[in-house]
Amino acid sequence: MLDYIYNRHSVREFQDKDIPEEDLKEILKAAMQAPSGRNLQNWHFVVVQNRGKLKDIANIIKEKGKLATEKIADEKEKQKMLAYLNYYTFFPEAPVTIFVFAGPYPTTGMELFLGSNPTDQEVKDFNRHQPGIQNIGAAVQNLLLAASTLGYGGCWMTGPLYAKNEIQEYLGFKKECYHLACMVPLGVPVASELYSPPRKALGDVMTIIR
Ligand SMILES: Cc1cc2nc3c(=O)[nH]c(=O)nc-3n(C[C@H](O)[C@H](O)[C@H](O)COP(=O)(O)O)c2cc1C
Repeated sequence: MLDYIYNRHSVREFQDKDIPEEDLKEILKAAMQAPSGRNLQNWHFVVVQNRGKLKDIANIIKEKGKLATEKIADEKEKQKMLAYLNYYTFFPEAPVTIFVFAGPYPTTGMELFLGSNPTDQEVKDFNRHQPGIQNIGAAVQNLLLAASTLGYGGCWMTGPLYAKNEIQEYLGFKKECYHLACMVPLGVPVASELYSPPRKALGDVMTIIR
C-alpha cells in the first residue's frame, strides 16, 4: 500500500527523454497540495528546461567550488571535496531542474511570549523550528513522490547552494523576500538509480512515551 513511498529514490542519472508539460504541471500541483503553516503556501517553483542554461548554472557551482577547495591544504581532503562537486553539478543531465524558492513566514506572538526586549538567543530559539522552511520540505517531498509515481525520478539538492547568490542572479527571478531553498532535477531515471541507501533502525529514532 505504501509502495509509492518506498519506490522513491534519489536519481542522479537520467535517460535522454523529456517530461511532457502536462506531467510537469501534475507534479507541481501535487507539490502545491502540501500542508503549510497558516496555509501560507510560501513556495515558488522556477522550472528551467533549457539544458544550456542548466550547464551554465552547473559551471557557476563548479567554479566556485573549485576556488574554495584551493584553500584546502591537505591533498586528500581536497580530492574528497572535489569528488563531492559531482553531487552538486550532475543536474544538467536531467531535462528539467526545478529551483524551489521559499517566501517569508512572518512569526506571530513573539512579543506575547518573549516580551518587548527579547535577547538574540531568545529570538533564535523562538524561531528555531522554522515553519516557513518546513512548508518547503513538505512541498518538495510531495513533488518527488508525485514524480516517482508518474515514472520520473529526481533529487532534492541543497549542496550547490553555497553558490545561491550567483544562481539567483543567473536565473534573474525576483519575488519580494523569496530566496532559493533547494533544486530538484527531474527526468526519466536509468534503472541503476532505483535504489536508496539503508535507513537507521526504527528503534534508534523512535521513542514511545506511555
Ligand atoms: C535537504 C536535502 C538536501 C540534499 N542535497 C543533496 C545534494 O546536494 N546532492 C545530492 O546528490 N543529493 C542530495 N540529497 C539527497 C540525499 O543524499 C538522499 O536523499 C539520501 O542519501 C537518501 O537517499 P534516497 O533519497 O535515495 O532515499 C539531499 C536530500 C535532502 C533531503
